[in-house]
Amino acid sequence: MAATHIVLLGPPGAGKGTQAVRLAQHLGVPHLASGDLLREEVKRGTALGLKAKGYMDRGDLVPDSLIIEMFMGRLDGAKGFVLDGFPRNLVQAQLLDTAVKVERVIHVKVPKEEVIARSIARRVCESCQRPYNLISSPPKKENICDNCGGKLVQRNDDSKEVVERRYNGQYQSEINGLLNYYSPKNKILREIDGRRPIDEVFQEILRQIEN
Ligand code: AP5
Repeated sequence: MAATHIVLLGPPGAGKGTQAVRLAQHLGVPHLASGDLLREEVKRGTALGLKAKGYMDRGDLVPDSLIIEMFMGRLDGAKGFVLDGFPRNLVQAQLLDTAVKVERVIHVKVPKEEVIARSIARRVCESCQRPYNLISSPPKKENICDNCGGKLVQRNDDSKEVVERRYNGQYQSEINGLLNYYSPKNKILREIDGRRPIDEVFQEILRQIEN
């Protein structure tokens, strides 16, 4: 039987969000993306959003206390999930384990040069958050979401400088701790090559959650 409690790890722009949407639809489970939830808080101007915005715009991790407050309650009673962007460090991974049983952790590996190129060309729907790419997956109509007709925008943190900072800072400094944490755990960790086309990456993820 396929795993249904899934965590996606990877650098900024690796394709976690792209794959998480498909995977969640395929499995019929919720897709929970900490970055999307934070951007929603920023858009609504909540106290949490106001506190988080500076960290996000600079490309730094938002403090654990804010993320945990926002994220953990959403897992209550979940019969399955695809987590995208959470956990981001050891503290978050350990906390997650106190609430749910993670069945598979997929690390989508993509080199820095490629994630910078992808992120600069990324556009997202401001209504439904669906990601597009001006090079690899453009919308059918310029600047309009195929899914909901919403307007496509560029994220504040998708400049070359900020993506480099997210890659060198939050990703490089936390990923080894997460990989070490998950690798001895009943072989739930799988590493896949995220440089391939979107459909091929998806097929590989499906193989990895089946066995
Ligand atoms: P978050 O929104 O999670 O950003 P991220 O991890 O940097 O990941 P991205 O959303 O940039 O990329 P992705 O891997 O989802 O790629 P996508 O599918 O869009 O976090 C933003 C900020 O919030 C953080 O910097 C931090 O401040 C804060 N934050 C979030 N979670 C936190 C946490 N737990 N703790 C603390 N702080 C937290 O794809 C990218 C582009 O490539 C798209 O244009 C897509 O169309 C294209 N693409 C995808 N796959 C392929 C492919 N195979 N080939 C070619 N193009 C592709």
